[in-house]
Amino acid sequence: MEKYVINGGNKLYGSVKIQSAKNSVLPILAATVLTDGKITVLNVPKISDVNNMVKILTRLGCKAVFKGNDLIIDSSGANSFEIPSELAHELRSSVFLLGSVISRFKMAKIAYPGGCDIGLRPVDLHLTGLKRLGVQITEKNGYILCKCDKLCGNEIMLDCPSVGATENIMLAAVKADGTTTIKNAAREPEIEDLQKFLNMIGAKIKGAGSGTIVIEGVEKLGGGEFLPIADRIEAGTFLIAAAMCGGEVQTECACAENISSLLHKLRENGCKIDINNDKIVLENHKRLISVKSIETQPYPGFPTDLQAQITALCCICGGQSIITENLFETRFKYVPELKKMGADITVINRSAFVRGIDRFKGATVIAHDLRGGAALVLAGLAAEGQSEILDISHIDRGYGAFEYKLRSLGGDIKRLSV
Ligand code: EPZ
Repeated sequence: MEKYVINGGNKLYGSVKIQSAKNSVLPILAATVLTDGKITVLNVPKISDVNNMVKILTRLGCKAVFKGNDLIIDSSGANSFEIPSELAHELRSSVFLLGSVISRFKMAKIAYPGGCDIGLRPVDLHLTGLKRLGVQITEKNGYILCKCDKLCGNEIMLDCPSVGATENIMLAAVKADGTTTIKNAAREPEIEDLQKFLNMIGAKIKGAGSGTIVIEGVEKLGGGEFLPIADRIEAGTFLIAAAMCGGEVQTECACAENISSLLHKLRENGCKIDINNDKIVLENHKRLISVKSIETQPYPGFPTDLQAQITALCCICGGQSIITENLFETRFKYVPELKKMGADITVINRSAFVRGIDRFKGATVIAHDLRGGAALVLAGLAAEGQSEILDISHIDRGYGAFEYKLRSLGGDIKRLSV
């Protein structure tokens, strides 16, 4: 086990390069099973979710090796349709492999996927969509078993714009017979990135980013080199850190449009934000004012993956805020930890009622999930005194070189073994 030790109170200054988006890289890695062509994914973050996805690909018979920050995958030797359960439990995005493994082998076997403990996280929309493409599915003893003679294009209407279900169906449909239309599809930028990657290797997909995606099945896919979009959630996390600690921080590579809902709220808080192409600069030297309410929504609404971080910010603004989590049932597990640092928060059902305090007090707290853990780090950086953040393996799932980047901005944070 490892922990962060943070001495709070430093302002943050400088520029930080944003990694390729975790939630773009993971479905792209799953997509490599669809082709025998060699794929190079550039600027891949060194995070445990990626390492686990690489382990799964290797167990499927694919070759996946890092060359610096680039990941080279050759799936021509793929020879297994069974996703190992101990790895599936580690990683929500293991479920994306269903679509590509079924497409390749017409069979797939996976244990129910794991991932952050932020809610029920059903996969019913994934399975309903795959059934519409001709897949027979049985679920027993905690496994999902899939098989089909051939995948046939169809029209699929999603009950809710699920990111993972949209991506899984896209992957299964790329080489299906005929055309597939996904209605009420998720609109996240990572979906557009997956479309861009698949079309680069020979797929015929259009409409990603709108609510309707049309996939025309093709026979064969090739290879190529691809740079995924920058991680908008990592960028948002660093900008919120600057807002909370004060100072002036620039993020590089991230597209402001992809976090416009966050930037709008930060300006409402009183932050000065300048945008220049792929550079976003946030400056703040005063106590911010609370935004009255924040509701997480599917893209382009406020991202659920920044809910914990913005709540930590609201805790030290002047005034009161209500933060409502509309996507996941239990995404406030970090709140009791923030309360150990002096936060004044009451959670009722899906809403957190926050009354601003002057400052967090350093404390020893525990990370329970990826984004909640990141929020505790931001609180520690802004706090008076020393904090310890335990169980930071959750944070390592999605933030590469997190403490190095924060230290480069002036944050007093170090990683220690417990
Ligand atoms: C993706 O998870 C992201 N993960 C999550 O990021 C992100 O929070 C989420 O999308 C929403 O943006 C990856 O991309 C690897 P969903 P996913 O399916 O696909 C319900 C992070 O911190 N639903 O869009 O699992 C579900 O319960 C992670 O980086 C069903 O009902 O999210 C939820 O209420 C956390 N049935 C809503 O849809 C299904 O079959 C949104 O979930 C699938 C989902």
